[in-house]
Amino acid sequence: MSASGLEGRVAIVTGAGGGLGGGICSALTLAGATVVAVDVQRDKAERVAESLSRNGARCVALEVDVSDRSSVEGMVERVVGELGGVDLLVNNAAIYPSRPWTEIEESEWDQVLAVNLKGYFLCARAAFPHMKGKGRGRVINVASITFFIGFANLLDYVSSKGGVVAFLASDAASFITGQTIEIDGGWAMH
Ligand SMILES: NC(=O)c1ccc[n+]([C@@H]2O[C@H](COP(=O)([O-])OP(=O)(O)OC[C@H]3O[C@@H](n4cnc5c(N)ncnc54)[C@H](O)[C@@H]3O)[C@@H](O)[C@H]2O)c1
Repeated sequence: MSASGLEGRVAIVTGAGGGLGGGICSALTLAGATVVAVDVQRDKAERVAESLSRNGARCVALEVDVSDRSSVEGMVERVVGELGGVDLLVNNAAIYPSRPWTEIEESEWDQVLAVNLKGYFLCARAAFPHMKGKGRGRVINVASITFFIGFANLLDYVSSKGGVVAFLASDAASFITGQTIEIDGGWAMH
């Protein structure tokens, strides 16, 4: 298996319909994985899956709300039933209101935490039992707020369109755990 060889692996990517999610799905399918493109907006997930499938990749779309436990559990049940298990979870779905914090409503704050924090936990908790037996399961969190779940890798400020995710998912990164990786093109150094 090559450094980024993900042949035979099953990956769930949340927020797959977004700019970064599409890049992550593409990188993972290029590395050989079967990708489940998950988004709360079905049409966005389907667009990504159809475009990658046209080029011969294995990518299917699922409509899931990561902040809803039953939706998340249904997703994992379906993936395990149809694809035999989960090797990789990329927690990427997020919402981020971009205006002064003084103008953010309480309900919006709650919704951000429900998607960007609880959603990551719900997906990891649902998928993890189906990874354990294989000894190669990975959870990669793309940062949206500065909290993270202990056992997972955290990508902060991602702009590499999935290449780093494909590396972290690979056997070459099997000894990398619990790291924060800054990908900002040197922005923080200035
Ligand atoms: N793009 C950047 O420069 C940048 C910088 C820093 C961090 N990030 C992080 O990268 C990740 C992706 O960002 P992006 O720029 O691609 O965002 P985006 O808004 O383009 O995509 C996010 C996707 O998540 C989906 N989503 C929202 N709520 C959901 C829910 N409840 N369940 C399932 N899916 C849901 C949306 O429909 C959307 O398709 C986020 O975690 C973001 O915080 C991005």
